[in-house]
This record gives sequence, C-alpha cells and structure tokens, in this order.
Amino acid sequence: MNLQLYALPGNEERARALAQALHGRCAVELAGCVLHRFPDGETLVRVQPPRPGAHAVLLCSLDGADAKTVPLLAAAATLRELGAARVGLVAPYLAYMRQDRRFAPGQAFSARLYAELLSSRFDWLLTVDPHLHRIHDLAEIYTARTSVLHAAPRLADWIRAHVERPLVIGPDGESAQWADDVAARAGAPVVVVDKQRNGDRDVSATIPDLSPYPDRQPVLLDDIVSTGRTLVASLEHLRAAGRPAAACVVVHGLFAGDALTALRAAGATRIACADTTAAVDGVERIALDAELADALLELAGGEGDGR
Ligand code: R5P
Repeated sequence: MNLQLYALPGNEERARALAQALHGRCAVELAGCVLHRFPDGETLVRVQPPRPGAHAVLLCSLDGADAKTVPLLAAAATLRELGAARVGLVAPYLAYMRQDRRFAPGQAFSARLYAELLSSRFDWLLTVDPHLHRIHDLAEIYTARTSVLHAAPRLADWIRAHVERPLVIGPDGESAQWADDVAARAGAPVVVVDKQRNGDRDVSATIPDLSPYPDRQPVLLDDIVSTGRTLVASLEHLRAAGRPAAACVVVHGLFAGDALTALRAAGATRIACADTTAAVDGVERIALDAELADALLELAGGEGDGR
C-alpha cells in the first residue's frame, strides 16, 4: 500500500505522528496541501499531485467544521481528479453528529446532510467516538466506508494514572455509554446525572445519591465539551454537596467561548481530553496516534476495489 498523507492546516503535527507510527508498515509520504484565503473569504486549495494510483489520505479534525468543509471537499475532489486511486479522510472529531434528527419542524437534519457531503467525496472515513445517540451506527447515514476508534482505553489509563479511588460520573444520559465503558476499564464505580438543557448555555443537573461512595474522587466523563455548561452543572452540584473537586476527562475538547474559564470557576481540577482537536493551554492531552495508525492501516488496506 502506497499512502500519501495530506494535512489540512492545523493537522500537520498529527500527520507527522501518524507517518512516524506507520513507518516500516507501509509506504507513506507526507504530501503538501496549501490553502489561500482571498480577501473576500473564499479559499483556493492547492494539493501536491498524488503519485499515480496512490491512496490519498486527508487529515482534518472537524471542530469548527463550517470553515473547513469547503476546502476539505475541494482537496478531496482535486486529489481524485489528479489520479488518486482512493481518497480517505481521518477526522478525529466528526462534526454535526449531535444534530441527529429534526428536533423542531423546519430544522435541518444536519448529521445526515453532512454525511452525504463527506460520502460524496471520500471512499472512507476514520474517526474517534462520534456522538452516536439517536443514530446508532455511522453506516445509517454514511455511504462511505467508516471506522470508529474508541478513546475509552486511553481515557481509563489516564484516570488510573492520575486519580486515586475514582468515581466516574457521566454528566447526562447521553454520556452513559462512554462513562460506563471507561469506568469498567478503570475499575471504578459509575453514576449518571440527570441533565436538563434549556438553552445553549443554560443547563441544570440533578446528581444521584453519592453517599455509597464517601471516599471516592469524582471524575466527570463526557464525549464532548463545547460550552462546558454540561460539566459546570455537575461541578456546581458536587461543590454544593461538599464533595472534593472533580477532574474532567473528555474525548473531544471543543471549548467554545469561555468554556475553560467557566470550568475552572466551577472547580474543575485537572481537565484532560483526547488529542482529537487542537491543543488548548491548561488542558492535558491524551494521545491516540498509535491507535489511529493501526485503524488507518486496517481501513485503508482492507477495502475492495469498488467505491
Ligand atoms: C451531549 O449530550 C454531549 O454528550 C455533551 O454533553 C454536550 O454536547 C456538551 O455540551 P456543552 O459543553 O455545550 O454543555
């Protein structure tokens, strides 16, 4: 297999780490992908032409997806036009998965629309823990072949290494799948909070009885932190209940607006995220490069000839 890795801006470090992890296991080359932003806001994409018959892999984490998607689709289309035999996408964070149905009349079903867009240009997609809730499998909306890597083993390693006698707390019902898995791997008990969201930044929470776990250190565990208000609601409850300050461990750290400040103010001690999005000062990173390299090899090497 002959891989050419193309990093969209902001993904260069990940491309280098992946190339290193793949070294000696397949022919792999870092290839150029340059964007020029015109004054009017449009983008010109220029890719290094692929070697004939090469398997082109674009790397682009899709936080802030709206600005990234048009260049990403243009890069994929151009690589195919210039002769790439296959075009795949490694998107450690996959956007729009929380808009997984039409919640009110007239709303876009964005998860499906986005899946159609990506599937129209990529042969395959590799991602980390997409927000699968009302959609249970990416194959329900993606026609491109997909592979999902789970961060749970590495998150559990982090908890085991940094928190004594942890109690894993899922801050809402949707987090239960991640919290249960990580807690089992970390050998910790788990409880799940009842959350009510009344607006983007208006969240309240009811924490279950923690009296069976008097000497446990709380660790909040979620798949996504965006505004931070889901975690803040649980942190405030814990503080009001006189529990020790909690660590927050999350797969995808989006940290929209003042999220980090709000988490610190609510008493978060350590905050750790998988390295699926850009690094943020004060947030510990849990590396997934080795696992991504394994999954990429399997996905890119294991396909048939047809799209
Ligand atoms: C939703 O169910 C997700 O699992 C997260 O809990 C949510 O997206 C976090 O968003 P925010 O940080 O804005 O509260």
